[in-house]
This record gives sequence, C-alpha cells and structure tokens, in this order.
Amino acid sequence: MKKKLIVANWKAYLASQKEVKEYVSVFSRNFGKSGAKNAADVVFCPPFLYLAAFRSAHIGGVAVGAQDVFWEERGPYTGEATTSMLKDAGASYVIIGHSERRRYLGENDEMVSKKLRGALEAKINVILCIGEWTKASDDVGEKKTLDFIKNQLHCALAGVSRTLLKRMVVVYEPVWAISGNSGIADTPENASRMIMFIRRIIAKLYDGHTARSLAVLYGGSVSSQNAAGFIRQDTIDGVLVGSASANPNEFLKIIAEATRKT
Ligand code: PGA
Repeated sequence: MKKKLIVANWKAYLASQKEVKEYVSVFSRNFGKSGAKNAADVVFCPPFLYLAAFRSAHIGGVAVGAQDVFWEERGPYTGEATTSMLKDAGASYVIIGHSERRRYLGENDEMVSKKLRGALEAKINVILCIGEWTKASDDVGEKKTLDFIKNQLHCALAGVSRTLLKRMVVVYEPVWAISGNSGIADTPENASRMIMFIRRIIAKLYDGHTARSLAVLYGGSVSSQNAAGFIRQDTIDGVLVGSASANPNEFLKIIAEATRKT
C-alpha cells in the first residue's frame, strides 16, 4: 500500500497557546509510541498564530502547514501572511481554496489561482481544496457537480506548469459533507469515483503520468469511525481532517487507520 497523507486542519478549534501546548503534549507522547511515525505522512495546519509554538514543540515525523497564504512575498498587504513569512515560520505546506474561506472571506477562483501559483513558485507544498456545495440528487445535479469541479480545477490551475504541479495535493472535499454543515461524510465509493474524475481532468490538462502521480485526498467529516473506509481505497491517497483533528486522541486513531496493515 502507498504511504498515505493525513492532514489536520485545525481551523479555529484551539483557542489558546495553553490548549495547543496540552494537545502537543498528548499527541507527541503517543505518536512516538504508536509506530505510525514512518508509516504515514502527517501534516498539521494550525492557525498562523500557533505556527511558531508548533514549530518549537519539535514533534518528530510531522510536517507543518498554514491554513491560508497571500500570493505576494512582501509589501503593503495589511493583515496578510505572505509566502516568505510562512517559510520563515517553518511551514512547508499550505491549504488553499478551502470552502470556509470562499464562503466567509469571499475568496474567488481568481484569488485561489493567484495563491496557488504564488505558493508553488515559492516552493511551498499546496493542499488545494475543491468540491461542490450541494449534494446531487439526480442526473442533472450530478452533471452540474462534475462541471463545477472541472471548472474549479481549470480556474485554479490556469498558468500552472507541470513542474510546479509536483508540489500540489488536491483534496476532494464536498462542502455539504463538512462537519460544520451536514456532518455526514460522503461514501468512500463516491469519493473514489470523484477522485478518479479529478485525475481524468488532470490527465487532459497535463498528461497521464502527472495525473497518476498526483496525490488526491478526501475531506469532509472524517473521523476514527469512518477513516478506514476512505484510507483503504487505492484511489484515495489520504484524508484532510477538520474537527476530529482538534482532539489529539481522535486524530491519533485516524493516523493509526492509515498505518494498519489489514
Ligand atoms: P471536517 O472538516 O473534518 O470538520 O468536516 C474538514 C475540512 O473542512 O477541512
């Protein structure tokens, strides 16, 4: 089995340095013992304000990412975190295009595309989120969903070269399945079908080899109860975990599913 990628998107669930410290202490104690360290790739995406604390905790065997980035390296951009700041804070990954940023902060496809290019050019690994807002209930809805996903990918990847793509991971994250919305995850079979569709688009835009090498994850209400179903699919390269990643023991159980042999 290919090594799976497990990403924790902490969103804004941990509300103080004290909570971060407690989390890190439980996680690192048990992660070290679990034997999971080398069996899966684990990335933590804390809020900007906790990146430094997370980095200084020195948890062996995990990478650090941010939840957003601005497209320029420096300049007059009040409130933004730039690619240089992220790298300086130890982030080697960044989540781009998350639906919560699209919904609450008005991020559009053009901004997502600029952020994607900016981060990839700055040599930061990008975790690009795409996914439909509502669940299709008939063939017309299904066709709309596929067109929507195709369009999101086309817009995000405008002007992105094949070489840059090596640093990108795509997450199929249907918005209706995120825990803050329905709390009902997609089925592993449907997620797998959508991920195959995403690969076909990449193959058309680039080539078959690029499409096969690209890591594509599933996100949306992943928990220790359902993680195995997604992780066991050959087509799914890992999971993006939101609310369940805010609890260290629950997140450790999800990682354990990615490293279990049977
Ligand atoms: P969730 O969030 O696991 O809480 O559904 C996933 C995400 O939005 O990244």
